[in-house]
Amino acid sequence: MSFSRRAFLASTFAAPMALKLSRAFGSPNPEESTDGRSPSMSFKDGKFRILQLTDLHLGYNCPEGLERAAKTIEYTRTLLDVSKPDLAILTGDIVWLEATALAGGYEEAWARIVKPFEDANVPYVMTLGNHDHELKIPAKAHYAAFSKSPLNMTRDVPYLPGAGNCYIPIVGADGKECRRLWIFDSHSYCRISDNPRIHALSEVVDWEYDWIKPSQIQWYIKESQRAEEENGGVPIPSLAFFHIPTPEYWELYEKQQDGSWKPVEGVIGRRGEDPCSPRVNSGLVGAAIERGDLEGIFVGHEHINDYIGIYKGIALAYGRKTGEECYGDLPHGGRIIDLTEGKPGFATRIVMLDGSTESEYTYKQ
Ligand SMILES: [Fe+2]
Repeated sequence: MSFSRRAFLASTFAAPMALKLSRAFGSPNPEESTDGRSPSMSFKDGKFRILQLTDLHLGYNCPEGLERAAKTIEYTRTLLDVSKPDLAILTGDIVWLEATALAGGYEEAWARIVKPFEDANVPYVMTLGNHDHELKIPAKAHYAAFSKSPLNMTRDVPYLPGAGNCYIPIVGADGKECRRLWIFDSHSYCRISDNPRIHALSEVVDWEYDWIKPSQIQWYIKESQRAEEENGGVPIPSLAFFHIPTPEYWELYEKQQDGSWKPVEGVIGRRGEDPCSPRVNSGLVGAAIERGDLEGIFVGHEHINDYIGIYKGIALAYGRKTGEECYGDLPHGGRIIDLTEGKPGFATRIVMLDGSTESEYTYKQ
């Protein structure tokens, strides 16, 4: 592997109503949601397909960057065409702002990103990644920029940090919610030594990856409990999507004496590099295990990882890198996640630009 995450980063730092339609559409007014509830979506003929795209990394700071961005937009169109999803979820690092020199700035970049979804008439969710947070543009401003389309399904909880923390209920033929998708902002970087309350106890470091905050986890627990109560005391099976893998992603491989990494039983896919997780485990997975409603977590961030496996009952999965700007030799693609009404779990596989698939994996099916 000639290009690693570290080299990539080094270059970076240098520079309750169900819509009875075949697809449900988001509200053009994102401010109407304060608890993070997105408009409900519906199974269609008992099926619901999600296409996870990740790490588009659109950058425009040079002619070559413009060409690569155009390729990425074309990949997005192709993957929407070959996958025909009911919903697309982009798990972060979408606009590479350090490399964006568009006249219209980040708003112009988001308009370009949204266009393929509008042209394909596919509802979308955006989760912000560490690169989306660069240049000090507030996360809520990004949210406002990508939420203009009626196809946007992302909502926001105003008091939570970051932007786009929300959940999407999916309802069955009886009109009742039977699945839920959770979306979290996993933020970007932090310097623990900047916190005046703890700096005296902390090692001074340049930066490290930030983590999903306790307030976000408390919001998840509260809304998860409310959903369970409204469902007669039965948890709603759910999936979660965000950008940066939690520290539990390390647990799917065991380090061997020769330094190599061996997948634990049942893990499939590629581990081309270490998970660049936060060093602080803020406890989302622990909370989810206790709640017992989360079947899977889907992240991006690493461009040469696409593995999936089970950690204490929860499937932890990477998507497949989509953007032309990404490092590594994995073919560009996405991850299809198929849900079936009345059946627990999911089926997932990697889809590539020619429509071929690999790494088929089922959970509870
Ligand atoms: Fe990232």
